[in-house]
Amino acid sequence: MALQYKFPKGFWWGSATSATQIEGAADEGGKGRNIWDQWHENEPNRFFDGVGPASTSDFYHLYKEDIGLMKEIGHNTFRLSISWSRLIPGGRGEINPEAVDFYNNVINELIAQEIEPFVTLYHFDMPFELQEEGGWENREVVEAYAKYAGECFRLFGDRVKKWFTFNEPIVPVEGGYLYDFHYPNVVDARRAVQVAYHTMIAHARAVDVFRAAGIEGGQIGIILNLTPSYPRSQHPADLKASNAADLFFNRSFLDPAVLGEYPEELVELLREHGQLPHAEKGDQELVKSGIVDILGVNYYQPRRVKAKEHLPNPYGPFMPDWYFDNYEMPGRKMNPYRGWEIYEKGIYDIMINLRDNYGNIQSYIAENGMGVEDESRFIENGEIQDDYRIEFISGHLTWLHQAIEEGCNVKGYHLWSFMDNWSWMNAYKNRYGFFSVDIETKKRTPKKSAHWIKEVAEQNGFNR
Ligand code: BG6
Repeated sequence: MALQYKFPKGFWWGSATSATQIEGAADEGGKGRNIWDQWHENEPNRFFDGVGPASTSDFYHLYKEDIGLMKEIGHNTFRLSISWSRLIPGGRGEINPEAVDFYNNVINELIAQEIEPFVTLYHFDMPFELQEEGGWENREVVEAYAKYAGECFRLFGDRVKKWFTFNEPIVPVEGGYLYDFHYPNVVDARRAVQVAYHTMIAHARAVDVFRAAGIEGGQIGIILNLTPSYPRSQHPADLKASNAADLFFNRSFLDPAVLGEYPEELVELLREHGQLPHAEKGDQELVKSGIVDILGVNYYQPRRVKAKEHLPNPYGPFMPDWYFDNYEMPGRKMNPYRGWEIYEKGIYDIMINLRDNYGNIQSYIAENGMGVEDESRFIENGEIQDDYRIEFISGHLTWLHQAIEEGCNVKGYHLWSFMDNWSWMNAYKNRYGFFSVDIETKKRTPKKSAHWIKEVAEQNGFNR
């Protein structure tokens, strides 16, 4: 019998992770320190249960077994990131040979198992020494990043063909410079804008270096958490608010990465508030040269927006949310175990937008997933019965399938995440994996969704 939702031949099925969240071995193998190691040392109590990044899920030692498990559940792709501070301790200078061995071993093992590596260069993990120099506020750090990217292409580009410069570049801007959930815990909109701008300059420099490296069959992209912005009503004030949220949180990265320029409306807004970042001569051309081949899309939840009801003091600090309030739409479907909205059609709306306004760029779902607190309450016969996750994934895949039927150029799906992992300040609070991880023993156990995805990958589709 024909499957109800059959995906195009060659569709990628896999899961996503990042170095700091899974590797562990934070002080082993010659790794330098990154901002997470340092922040946890300074303020352990800001992390859920006080748990830091020191050992996480220990992929550093268990990668071979993990890749075996990926194979078992039908993955043909796996998304991971390289840790800058592991490869180049301190961020500049000597390459750490133990890191080269580690990443070579991981990549070779993936390829031996016919699992395509999708590799991110930067997933929130600035080497601490470079943060001390100002991190992304400092243009010299951009050059250090371009060198690091070049080393990655040189060392691994013969085997890795799908590269991504950044994961969710807006998050370190929001977290580190606006809302106090990433180091360096600054709250300053002007600095936030500069950090966002330099991140895109760094992206463009890495794309330049990638083009110069001439990696045969290689493609380069960026991974953005696109959050469709839905207004409370069609009232002009709500529409304006929703447009502002879209400009700040989506288009400030999407437009330069895919179209090669910033939206004029965004530039105007920043100019109006005297918040234009410091730029250098030639930057416009540089941004143009950073146009990507491929786009990774992370989608968890939409942004519901209403016009700001109480305008703050106009002389107060400029913040993106000066323009809008989040809108708690009555009746929206919520993830009861994480507090985020679930709106499956959002994934379709993103894809239609990319098709119609961004040249139908080749894209992948680089993250989509459902975080759940304390999944042990769902154990039956020794296995977590995560039917809610199966429902979450299949709901999103149904809309993704619809988007493909309507001509959207989306080629793969990565669940966040392969296994439960350490998630920044939330540490192990929200569990996302196909496999659960006992954080003491590091034992991996498949959840019901692991068996389900195996079948989906093997049939290249599913019935619902
Ligand atoms: C994504 C990030 O935005 O959200 C991941 O790319 C992160 O790194 C994930 O782990 C889940 O976040 P949380 O806070 O629910 O654990």
